[in-house]
Amino acid sequence: MDVESWKTAAADEAAKLVRDGMLVGLGSGTTVAKVIAALSRLNPNATYVVASSSSEKLAKDLGLKLSPLDGDRSLDITIDGADEVDPNFDLIKGHGGAHTREKIIAQAAKMVVIVVDRTKLVRRLGKIFPVPVEVLPFAKDYTMKRLAELGSRPVLKTKDNAPFVTDNGNYLVEAWFPKITNAAKLEQKINGLPGVIDNGLFAGLADLVYVGHERGCTVLRDKRSFLKFLRAQSEQPTKTKKD
Ligand code: 5RP
Repeated sequence: MDVESWKTAAADEAAKLVRDGMLVGLGSGTTVAKVIAALSRLNPNATYVVASSSSEKLAKDLGLKLSPLDGDRSLDITIDGADEVDPNFDLIKGHGGAHTREKIIAQAAKMVVIVVDRTKLVRRLGKIFPVPVEVLPFAKDYTMKRLAELGSRPVLKTKDNAPFVTDNGNYLVEAWFPKITNAAKLEQKINGLPGVIDNGLFAGLADLVYVGHERGCTVLRDKRSFLKFLRAQSEQPTKTKKD
């Protein structure tokens, strides 16, 4: 599986959506890094609001024009990656811990485009990834207990034997739920817990999904095209050594 080239195919295609004069939100992660690289090559006369310090550094290094998020103008488009996408275009995001700002730039945008490789498409959220929850360090233990009461197994994310710290100075708890049946409801429930800043469930925010695969990039516009794509994938002949 050449997942990197699938990501590149989707990123290159999504970058073409950016036009002169646009104000564009950019999320975070390895796929968004490829979008940033594509934008630096296409070089439209656009301005970018980035959601993480890593995207900011890359965008600056590659010469993109950056702006803070202001209150007056909505973003024309936000382009972001995801950890999982379900048939309703509900998402799990935040494996890189940037989901709080990513959700803000998604909510601030007229259109949200998600860029993924085909391994990220799932029939039900939470099969592979936990739900990342950004929590206030002060309330970490209390909030983790409340997350357990919601039915999850909460695990504090660490880096170099210390708690992982987000760009906002908070901790990240990965909440493993056995079954996510209603993403919108769960997203609200988690956000209602004391000490929670925001969680990585993104229900009802994505408009289009650009999915990279062996044969290039397919744009998914609705549940029907999502399910058709998944069916076609499962009917693909598996490559053997002889091929
Ligand atoms: C970061 C995110 C990323 O978009 C998500 O984790 C996907 O990352 P990648 O493109 O590296 O697989 O939500 O907070």
